[in-house]
Amino acid sequence: MARVHRHFYMGQASESISCLEYIRRLCADLSVILNTPIEVEGDDGKIASTLVQPVGLLVNELITNAAKHGGGKIVVSYRSQAGKRTLRVCDRGKGLPPDFNVEASRTGLGMKVISILTKQLKGTLTRGCEL
Ligand SMILES: Nc1ncnc2c1ncn2[C@@H]1O[C@H](COP(=O)(O)OP(=O)(O)OP(=O)(O)O)[C@@H](O)[C@H]1O
Ligand SMILES: [Mg+2]
Repeated sequence: MARVHRHFYMGQASESISCLEYIRRLCADLSVILNTPIEVEGDDGKIASTLVQPVGLLVNELITNAAKHGGGKIVVSYRSQAGKRTLRVCDRGKGLPPDFNVEASRTGLGMKVISILTKQLKGTLTRGCEL
C-alpha cells in the first residue's frame, strides 16, 4: 500500500495531470508487487488532481482482484471520448460469478471500496470485457 500511495499526487487542487501517465506509473509498480505483467493502453487527457486518489485506489483494487481471482494477462484501459471517461481492468479468468451482487457481497472489502469510489466519481460500474 505504501508503494501505491507514493504515486498519489499531492499538488494543488487546481492542477490537472495526465490520467494515463499516472495509471502507467502505478501499474508499473503494481506489476512488480504482484509479479504479473500489466498492459496499459488508452487516451491522453488531463484530470483534476483531486480525482487522482480515487482513480488510483480503484485501479489498485481492480488489479489486485484480477491478480488474485482472475487469470492470464491483465489489461487496463483508460478512454476519454466525447466527455465520457472509461476505466477498464480486464483479465482472462472466469470472471465474476453470474449472480454476483456488489451490495450483497460479504466476501471482501475490495468490491465495496470499488462501488463507493465509483459513486464518488459519479460513474457507473459495469462488468464484462471483450479482449
Ligand atoms: N477479477 C475477478 N475475477 C473473478 N472473480 C472476481 C474478480 N474480482 C472479484 N472477484 C470475486 O468477487 C469477490 C469479492 O471481491 P472483493 O475484492 O470484494 O473481495 P476479496 O478480493 O476476496 O477480498 P479483499 O478485497 O477484501 O482482499 C471475490 O472473492 C471473488 O470471488
Ligand atoms: Mg479484493
